[in-house]
Amino acid sequence: MLGKIISFEKNKQDITVVFENGIGTISVLNDCMVRIFSKTEDNGKSKAIEHLEKIDTEFDVIMNQENLIIRTKKMLINVFDGFRIDFYKLDGTVLCKDYRGERKPRVELGEEFIQLMEQEGHEHKKEEQNHRIQVVKELEGDEFFYGLGDRTGFLNKRGYEYEMWNTDDPKPHVDSYKTLYKTIPFLITLKTNCVYGIFFDNTNRSFWDMGKESNDYYYFASDAGNLDYYFFTGESIKDIIKEYTSLTGTVNRPQLWSLGYHQSRWGYDTEHDVRKIAASFREHRIPCDTIHLDIDYMEKYKVFTWNKKNFEHPKELIEDLAKEGFKIVTIIDPGVKVEKGYPIYEEGVKHNYFVKDAEGEIYVNQVWPGDAVYPDFGKKEVRDWWADNQKLLLKHGVRGVWNDMNEPASFKGEIPDDILFSDEDRIATHGEMHNVYGHLMSKATYAGLKKHDKRRPFVITRACYAGSQKYTTGWTGDNHSIWAHLQMAIPQLCNLGLSGMSYVGTDVGGFGSDTTAELLTRWVQVGCFSPLFRNHSNMGSLYQEPWQFGEETMEIYRQYVELRYKLLPYFYDLFVSGETSGLPIMRPLVLHYETDERVRELNDEFLVGESILVAPVVMQGARSRMVYLPEGKWVDYHTQEELEGGQFMIAKAPLEKCPMYIKAGSILPNYPVQNYVGEKEITSLTLDIYKGEGVYIHYQDDGESFDYEKGVYNEYKFSVTKQGDFTAELVHGGYEKKYDSFLLTYEGKEILVPFEGKKIQVKLI
Ligand code: GLC
Repeated sequence: MLGKIISFEKNKQDITVVFENGIGTISVLNDCMVRIFSKTEDNGKSKAIEHLEKIDTEFDVIMNQENLIIRTKKMLINVFDGFRIDFYKLDGTVLCKDYRGERKPRVELGEEFIQLMEQEGHEHKKEEQNHRIQVVKELEGDEFFYGLGDRTGFLNKRGYEYEMWNTDDPKPHVDSYKTLYKTIPFLITLKTNCVYGIFFDNTNRSFWDMGKESNDYYYFASDAGNLDYYFFTGESIKDIIKEYTSLTGTVNRPQLWSLGYHQSRWGYDTEHDVRKIAASFREHRIPCDTIHLDIDYMEKYKVFTWNKKNFEHPKELIEDLAKEGFKIVTIIDPGVKVEKGYPIYEEGVKHNYFVKDAEGEIYVNQVWPGDAVYPDFGKKEVRDWWADNQKLLLKHGVRGVWNDMNEPASFKGEIPDDILFSDEDRIATHGEMHNVYGHLMSKATYAGLKKHDKRRPFVITRACYAGSQKYTTGWTGDNHSIWAHLQMAIPQLCNLGLSGMSYVGTDVGGFGSDTTAELLTRWVQVGCFSPLFRNHSNMGSLYQEPWQFGEETMEIYRQYVELRYKLLPYFYDLFVSGETSGLPIMRPLVLHYETDERVRELNDEFLVGESILVAPVVMQGARSRMVYLPEGKWVDYHTQEELEGGQFMIAKAPLEKCPMYIKAGSILPNYPVQNYVGEKEITSLTLDIYKGEGVYIHYQDDGESFDYEKGVYNEYKFSVTKQGDFTAELVHGGYEKKYDSFLLTYEGKEILVPFEGKKIQVKLI
């Protein structure tokens, strides 16, 4: 306990408060964002925030009888004894107050009852102790909680309890699961009159109780590290995300092909299998850009090797597939097989690159290759080595790298907390570095691809930490082919997106268990709208490539993959605008309609950008469903019927139909359907214009390189008025390949207009 406030000192943006038993610092980063910090441990630099910018901000600090008052242009912060803090808007609205009472942990059972329960296999939850670092906030009752990264359960996190400890557990993830693969300790709180965010930048195991233990408070806590959290306020959830991503980074625009369709399976065992899969896509005319190679391609699961027997000529394989438009992504796990003569192992041992125990011995656990050791990614020289190892893949023509098992997974029991890892030059423990292990591995992979391939790196990871979005895409790990997991995919991906990690997807069709024709069909109807669109499944489960369930399923599957390819420029534009706004691609409705109470817990609808509302069927057997359309006018994508928002309605949804609605005034760019990105030269852009008023910004560049950073891109501004006056303007023309025409579709008409790079105006009516 810090005790009473003794004094304070203001030094530029930092206010240092001296308490009886310690020191606390409040840094005003800008009018809406402060950092609350009190050091108890010698931790290294933040892994999530690489540059902490403090914008020169005017603010007042006064000390009165019982507290310290800080007033910025947007908020009032009252600091009390014990470093208890209350945040207000300037008009007096309570944003968030520290809870003054004691926590009331749950009922404790006597030994006798515990034994009784355990006989039948029930787990008994021990009484929760207070944690060394524990921030308990008052609940006023009107809070909706969002974010927190990759979590089970529904969209609103009120009433859940979670732990941040990256965990590999392939059993079906259900609502009561407290841990998954990723740690993003960022929370958005929406209340009736305000919104705020909290980012608890502590890499150790942390605990989040969102009002499960009590209706009076929620808390976040850890038994290690420092009290170190950021508090954000603003006018909307969008502001909070923008602030959070201004600290931790946004997703960079990806290579365009990576937004196409990906096919994967654990068990594409041979070159022959892979060629056959590729050929089937082309034969069945289902667009596909990417095939992922799982651990099968390696020799004895040794990373950076090829299994000579089944993948004898990887370079030729990859070259041949490239001619057909396929890109190959290979899996790389962190666990390095212990084997004499295996270069990666030998090099790592020689240079001291692996994690050690307290006695200084290299720590060995087990993963796929059997006994394995763990690269110490906290050290720059290890990351550089790992980055350079990517050359071993790139030289064969590999186009992206899939980082798996990087929680890190360990088959011979959990890695003990006191195994020694590095945090740059500092010795750290597993407990501190566990949750950033996947983050650092992805960072190294990204750096290696950027250095040696030069194109925008495509990395996909299972484990991550806040800020990983700068380096990698992610997937939600080993889901199952069950309806509950299709249902969960929506809130799960939406909350990941709100947490900055917006380039994400689930394994379409489900990874574990056996899928069915109907489940796969409904899943592709969600998958085609998720930022990362990959079908992946477990060895031994039913095959789930699009053609495995007969003609009808394949027809529908093709239709939705084609829809994705049509919408590629729309997806790409969302990525480009997300670089500055930090906003996700796949969005819960609450992001755009936060004052509408009916969307705050809408778990089975989502928006793609602002224009497309998707209301997929996620229930077996359902052939219609209730849809809520928020305020404004909407158009049924399938029938073009105009609909008034602000109401619930019943939508017909036969198996081939995923209900979709377009916001009036939207302008949606379309590409022609292609077997793969780049198959067709696109010189004319189709624009679907929906009656109403709207503006749309479209970007065009080579879709691969970093040249856009030097201005080599085109930016077009399209607008439409209520009267049907359409304007197209090239507002930045740095990329030589420009469209020579636009095909405008409007109210059932098609109008082809030539474009010479200047401004054009067209009367649509
Ligand atoms: C893990 C991954 C899964 C992969 C498997 C084999 O379970 O989550 O996607 O197929 O390992 O590499």
